[in-house]
Amino acid sequence: MKRKVTKAVFPVAGLGTRFLPATKSIPKEIMTLVDRPLIQYAIDEARAAGIKEFIFVTSRGKGALEDYFDHAPELENSLRKKNKKELLATVKNTNMDSGAIAYIRQHRPLGLGHAVWCARRLIANEPFAVILPDDVIAAEKPCLQQMVEAHAETGGCMVAAMEVPPQKASSYGILDINEDMGSLVSVKGMIEKPEEDVAPSNLAVIGRYILTPKILSNLNQIKQGAGGEIQLTDAIAQEIEAGRDVYGYRFRGQRFDCGSKAGYLQATVSFGLARDELRDEFTQYLDELTTTRRAAQ
Ligand code: UTP
Repeated sequence: MKRKVTKAVFPVAGLGTRFLPATKSIPKEIMTLVDRPLIQYAIDEARAAGIKEFIFVTSRGKGALEDYFDHAPELENSLRKKNKKELLATVKNTNMDSGAIAYIRQHRPLGLGHAVWCARRLIANEPFAVILPDDVIAAEKPCLQQMVEAHAETGGCMVAAMEVPPQKASSYGILDINEDMGSLVSVKGMIEKPEEDVAPSNLAVIGRYILTPKILSNLNQIKQGAGGEIQLTDAIAQEIEAGRDVYGYRFRGQRFDCGSKAGYLQATVSFGLARDELRDEFTQYLDELTTTRRAAQ
């Protein structure tokens, strides 16, 4: 029987240099879309997918992230006294059960693969998910839930895949496809950041993965030989070379790259417009803004 995926790793130890100076004191994952930090979107997605254990790989200066998941009895009492039921429910949704959340330090930013490797003892010998909170995905059915359901049929390793225009291939890991089965593709290779003319497909890997524990032993080996950063894609590529199943999953939804300024701003607009209480005022503002800009041109 295939094992259910109940553990997720959230690598949040990166330096976040694209958001300096903000990230000098605020972890990138605490930056908000409307009123919720990026990490909350990731946690909600994981919960919807049936994840029960949340493993954070953190680094120096990420204290605000740990505080965010603490219970806040004084705040909760005050909201209760004022009968602010909705806000109270929102705050309580951020609480994590004792023992459900673990923090592991990555002492040096040696890459995403190294961050996942740091969590190896907590993951132990079972399939696990990896969620990069900078990739925020708006979807009717949360992306990881779609993947967990597909993975229950396939097993193996699975990466979230998204179609990108050819000129953008050089910003992503691109899949070399063996067989295209619609939402699922079987993968025969992965190329990191290829130029447009050598990209093997238009399917890019984005920040959701379901991985077998074999990935951890691959990372272990890579670690021993690596001088610089340790890439997660290298450990997945080793699985392909060993003849084991690796799939790409074309999720249904819209992905925002909140690790980049433009992507973060686009997400802010999109999530703002999706809120009933903000839509009218915000739409009017955006309409006025575009009209004024057009008139000025
Ligand atoms: P990024 O490539 O976005 O790097 O990492 P970054 O440091 O977060 O941001 P920039 O490029 O300096 O602006 C992708 C994901 O991998 C994690 C990051 O926290 C992010 O979630 N990561 C990356 C680690 O946990 N450790 C690392 O050594 C590198």
